Amino acid sequence: MSAFQDQAPEDHGTEHHAYEADRLIAEDIDAYLTAHQHKTMLRFITCGSVDDGKSTLIGRLLYDSKMIFEDQLASLEHDSKSVGTQGGGIDFALLVDGLAAEREQGITIDVAYRFFATEKRKFIVADTPGHEQYTRNMVTGASTADLAVILIDARQGVLTQTRRHSYLVNLLGIRNIVLAVNKMDLVGYSAERFYEIVSDYSHFARQIGMESFLPIPISGLMGDNIVTRSENMAWYQGPTLISHLETAPMNDTRLQDAPFRMAVQWVNRPNLDFRGFAGQIATGSLRPGDAVRILPSGRTTSVKGIVTLDGDLEQAVAGQSVTLTLTDEVDCSRGDVITTADAPCEVADQFEATLVWMSEAEMLPGRPYLLKIGTQTVTASVTEPKYEVNVNTLEHLASKTLALNAIGVVNISTDRAIPFESYATNPDLGGFILIDRISNATVAAGMIHFALRRSQNIHWQAVDINREAHAGLKGQRPAVVWFTGLSGSGKSTIANLVEKKLHAMGRHTFLLDGDNVRHGLNRDLGFTDADRVENIRRVGEVARLMTDAGLIVLTAFISPFRSERRMVRDLIPEGEFIEVHVNTPLEVAEARDVKGLYKKARAGQLKNFTGIDSPYEAPESPELVVDTVSLSAEEAAERVVEALLAR
Ligand code: ADX
Repeated sequence: MSAFQDQAPEDHGTEHHAYEADRLIAEDIDAYLTAHQHKTMLRFITCGSVDDGKSTLIGRLLYDSKMIFEDQLASLEHDSKSVGTQGGGIDFALLVDGLAAEREQGITIDVAYRFFATEKRKFIVADTPGHEQYTRNMVTGASTADLAVILIDARQGVLTQTRRHSYLVNLLGIRNIVLAVNKMDLVGYSAERFYEIVSDYSHFARQIGMESFLPIPISGLMGDNIVTRSENMAWYQGPTLISHLETAPMNDTRLQDAPFRMAVQWVNRPNLDFRGFAGQIATGSLRPGDAVRILPSGRTTSVKGIVTLDGDLEQAVAGQSVTLTLTDEVDCSRGDVITTADAPCEVADQFEATLVWMSEAEMLPGRPYLLKIGTQTVTASVTEPKYEVNVNTLEHLASKTLALNAIGVVNISTDRAIPFESYATNPDLGGFILIDRISNATVAAGMIHFALRRSQNIHWQAVDINREAHAGLKGQRPAVVWFTGLSGSGKSTIANLVEKKLHAMGRHTFLLDGDNVRHGLNRDLGFTDADRVENIRRVGEVARLMTDAGLIVLTAFISPFRSERRMVRDLIPEGEFIEVHVNTPLEVAEARDVKGLYKKARAGQLKNFTGIDSPYEAPESPELVVDTVSLSAEEAAERVVEALLAR
């Protein structure tokens, strides 16, 4: 159900798991199974720092609940029948060892999901490693959770990781938080120590706007306050961990009361007589006859039927997967959102959002990423990094980029208007992920705060003398000839020759050259990755305006990144972007060293020099490659002109 969920491992539906039933279930197996089927399922996440006893706690929950699924036992590599005779039938220490070993192995891969049940409820617990580098796992685990157990070692108290995880859990909208103060046996079951930690934590919780949390003093190892109330801590009057887990409210109830929203996953059209819109209801409920609105188009219609595999429904509620049929033939496709007609959600293309950066490659403002929200994917870029949050001190730091695990607030712009809600009201329509377009890696999780007003007040102005009119008068087809290559590869020289040839042929051209543009329009930019991205973004926009004016534009920029060259390509109409890779090996460019810059870079006097300590990503499929080792500049220019005329 969550926006971040596609990164989560397969949800192992409990139906598929046979129980380690025999000795656990008393006489009436049928009655037992029926009851079990109707139990609610609570998803929760455990988080804390390394060595806080998480494996022990989870082992204790599985062990004391006496309900362990068979596959889980199998994966522990212990023969459940040969060890131990108490409780669930396996030895507690062995179980914990097995869990820990398994988690160590899986640590870099993902979140470990564990299943158990008590007489009252079924549970899925997301067990996430504590190290900072696994923020990604935490976000994945937390995004589907109804509740979070924040584990603290009573000897250590509130640590950096406690604050970081609490911040994330709160950010991800988990409102049900248990502060499990663990290892109470090691502090002599001291009430004083417990309250000291609770008071520390309260202070932090208040600062991050966490509404409430439930502190429970426990010992995972000894079993204090897990299932049964601890005799060692008579001073504690609250619930045990299990009894709280059994009664804690689930998110679903909150989502049911909100207005109806469903993102369309796919259009079901088996024949001409049937057109259904399939998806999972994010919030609210719906009945046949209800008036609905399709976003972003805004068209209204009403619900004809609610179709499921088990027949038509009289009502559908949040969490259910359904197919809706509508009374009118309205346009509606994947990614659209169906909402109640009188309380639709907003539609916008610029937002303020929080980003949790999860990639080794830093965030680069201006770089186009894929943004996946609800059931649709659009292109988006960070237009303005606002600040980064130090989760320890909660200070706001000015920052142009975000590094791995950084949390920041940014303005973001999408290439299309999308229906959305703030993450706080609706995680399904306000939570998104960013994906790198070249590597396909998920680089960030994001939460929308609100739409920026300016996006609603600026409209595209249609002009009469358009692109075609400009080009027509010049009697030519506009184009961008984009030269890319290392510094000193010969881009400017070749581009200059090409322009002279075109000019002589009576073509209207303009040459944008890196060194020149950096004296004016881009005077404020240096050579960091972020500045290079912005350099190319601006040049791309200028080149596009010039093609709108009917010109043939030549550009000579190193343009070292595939992402930005692709961005410019996407700005220009199909077939009018010609990427020319001026392919000069580093050794050759360095040997020529026309401007003496390689020498400086090698001497350490020039930082971030392309090819030395800053990357160059060669094009994978340029329209043309010119080899300046075998060709003269004149010959190379000739090839480019030929390619241009051949179009
Ligand atoms: S780009 O990477 O952002 O596309 P651009 O083409 O505008 O670079 O500018 C490159 C020119 O700037 C080089 O030809 C060189 O003359 C100069 N220059 C100065 N410092 C650097 C540097 N650190 N890396 C590359 N080029 C540099």
